[in-house]
Amino acid sequence: MGIRILLLSFESAVSHTCLYSINLNKYTFMQTQLTTLKLKNIISLCERLHKFATKIFFLERGKIMKKYRKLIVFATVLMLLLATMTGCGTDGTDDDGNGGDGATRIGIVLPTKDEPRWVQDETRFNEALADTDYSVEILFSQGSSASEKANVESLLTKGIDVLIICPHDGDAAAAAAEAAAAEGVTVISYDRLITGTDAVDYYVTFDSIAVGAAQGQYLVDSAEGEGNPLYLYAGASSDNNAFLFFEGAWSVLQPKIADGTFVIKNSSEAVALQDKAELTRDEMGRIISQVTTNWDFNEAKNKAESHLTAAAAADKGDVYILAPNDGTARSIADVFASDSDVTSYVVTGQDAEKASVQYIIDGKQSMTVFKDVRTLVKDSIDMAIAVLEGNAPQTTGSYNNNVTDVPAKQTEVIVVDQDNVKAALIDSGYYEASEFTGLE
Ligand code: BGC
Repeated sequence: MGIRILLLSFESAVSHTCLYSINLNKYTFMQTQLTTLKLKNIISLCERLHKFATKIFFLERGKIMKKYRKLIVFATVLMLLLATMTGCGTDGTDDDGNGGDGATRIGIVLPTKDEPRWVQDETRFNEALADTDYSVEILFSQGSSASEKANVESLLTKGIDVLIICPHDGDAAAAAAEAAAAEGVTVISYDRLITGTDAVDYYVTFDSIAVGAAQGQYLVDSAEGEGNPLYLYAGASSDNNAFLFFEGAWSVLQPKIADGTFVIKNSSEAVALQDKAELTRDEMGRIISQVTTNWDFNEAKNKAESHLTAAAAADKGDVYILAPNDGTARSIADVFASDSDVTSYVVTGQDAEKASVQYIIDGKQSMTVFKDVRTLVKDSIDMAIAVLEGNAPQTTGSYNNNVTDVPAKQTEVIVVDQDNVKAALIDSGYYEASEFTGLE
């Protein structure tokens, strides 16, 4: 009963504080929790209240009227007292160090299991989380925004505090992010940016413009003379990264299209814009819609087949192909390899998927851009733990998502081809040599 009275006084302190909090909606869930308090929830509530008081005191201090500072200090002291009385820690771990009350603290939602890239991320998350005391659940959305939203809702009912989410569709995922934010959950956009909402707290990503630029540069470095046939392919328009990859590639390829080194063979939209060094998002969108693979192997294959069927023998020969990622690169490469009018091809990729590493060793794919998923996973987990422990996560810049600048941590990428495949991917410990054949 004593505890209940103490908590009710704390509730009143919190309500007053909330009135002066700019982020009011983020904290209203705390009041709901307080009014429906049951004794069995005290331990997890202790953690949440302490986190809440710390957050307000340290992060929003500058925005709160001076006379309320004493109230917040009082609330924090009261919280620490409660934590001591009920014997619960403030770092989310209980005495056994096994993650507080066992509730799921971090939820992770990945786009699909149908692409090796995301299965790779799941594996790396599991490896990294083996050393974490926090309890975590990973769910896949299988290329559906509706499943993605349902996944987020299910994680919210489990009481997560942090959501790490790689959206299937950046715009559509705004609703899921908003549902999470409304419950006070910190949202970390993973690899792909959630767009059109301010409900994204952080973003962990690779340098996606550099990925596209590396792909374009590889084609440029491989080409000699003039009039080289160029085939362009892109990712899904629903993925903000597809634009960044294309922007990077275009920045390098366009001058070489303008000077005649390359001739675009499969996109009238790209031909119409080939004299423009910088494209607007709408202009890129027009090209991407025409040459999209939708990140789908079959769509990539069908598109490549219809392009080669439409092309004359003179548009083939030694060809250069901008393929957006490894999965689509393998499909497209297989189609070009089976056309008797194609004498040779250079094709790009990204992700360093095992199957593409084997293709590179076998000379069937020219390059990949290695994005070390271990780093992205570590960055996102570090961010989540910082949030859980009431600290400010480290960021290196920001990305605008059409509504707000999202604080971001960005990782560099490495170009891999036959020359450095062993050094970059085997000697670095990323893969085992035994997973491949023909490695020298
Ligand atoms: C990721 C790539 C991936 C592609 C298709 C992009 O957003 O950055 O690594 O290959 O989606 O899933």
